[in-house]
Amino acid sequence: MIPVTKSFLPPIEEYVVQVQRAYNNQWLTNRGELVQELEQKLSDYLELEESKILCMSNGTIPLQIALKLLGNNGEIITTPFSYVATTAAIVWENCTPVFVDIHPDFLTIDETKIEAAITDKTTCILATHVFGNPCHIEQIERIASKHNLKVIYDAAHCFGVKYKGKSIFEYGDISTCSFHATKLFHTGEGGAVFCKDQALLKQIFLSHAFGHIGDDYIQLGVNGKISELQAAMGLSVLQYIEDIIAKRKENFELYKYHLGERLTMLNIRAETKYNYCYIPVICSSENELLRIKGKLEENIIFSRRYFYPSLNTLTYFGKNEKCLVSEKISQRILCLPNYFELTEQQIKKIVELIISSL
Ligand SMILES: Cc1ncc(COP(=O)(O)O)c(C=O)c1O
Repeated sequence: MIPVTKSFLPPIEEYVVQVQRAYNNQWLTNRGELVQELEQKLSDYLELEESKILCMSNGTIPLQIALKLLGNNGEIITTPFSYVATTAAIVWENCTPVFVDIHPDFLTIDETKIEAAITDKTTCILATHVFGNPCHIEQIERIASKHNLKVIYDAAHCFGVKYKGKSIFEYGDISTCSFHATKLFHTGEGGAVFCKDQALLKQIFLSHAFGHIGDDYIQLGVNGKISELQAAMGLSVLQYIEDIIAKRKENFELYKYHLGERLTMLNIRAETKYNYCYIPVICSSENELLRIKGKLEENIIFSRRYFYPSLNTLTYFGKNEKCLVSEKISQRILCLPNYFELTEQQIKKIVELIISSL
């Protein structure tokens, strides 16, 4: 069986050493030694300059907190091509998603269409650096400052990505990441928020910890805290992060070598140091996609329709505008297996099966 992804598991002895520290401290949550060490090590590894990191329980809660603080129950300009959590967070926070179609090559929100979607109710742009591919950050910043809007980046896929020499997490008013078990860097479940503005960061901090510090009850809050046990996993995985990225890069290049001429692969924006987190391929038709997916499944190999469907078509998000590029790409895009243990032989088998079904 070849799954579409597999969690990277560090040697259990190394994980146990970290868990033992939590036992010794008899401290399992509420920002103990391990969480603080993890944040410091992540900040160093990511070479954060202006932004500070705050780890949380997953990658969804930072989006919700960002929208609670900046969305102001308004209209949020967003992408239809992302994981469902991006739009769900908007609706959950009583804001209204306004979908803007995506760029056909980069698959990120089409920055040339954003201005036409702005109304006097718009408060934020929430854009996803989808598959770790940066949005057109400069243009989004220009539009946001012209119209006095806040920018939130869903950077769930972006661990280790740099854009123009800086961590991608440094861009936007708030940037978020997921440390879910299937992500490149993970803590089992987990996530983080990145923010430069100290006053906003304080609000985010309070929001994720019930809104109080000791007996001082300051603002509305929820529980978004990461535990020491999650941090133990993160500290153990972080030791291997360079190997993990290097292996994913090898996988990516092998797929590209064999399939690049036959299927459309992700077009990475210039000046990006990429992390090779996913292997999305765009087929010529939905039928072709279904043939490939079926052929792989006959051989107990699993790919994933990611992202499908286009989020503007989900009726429970309300009545929404058409986004033809996103709808067409969603029908034709398939993510191929990519994980640390995947072997060259396995990739060659996958490639052969794909070619035979084209
Ligand atoms: C683009 C995007 N945003 C948000 C999330 C939510 O992250 P989490 O699963 O850590 O809550 C994911 C998870 O896969 C994602 O892919």
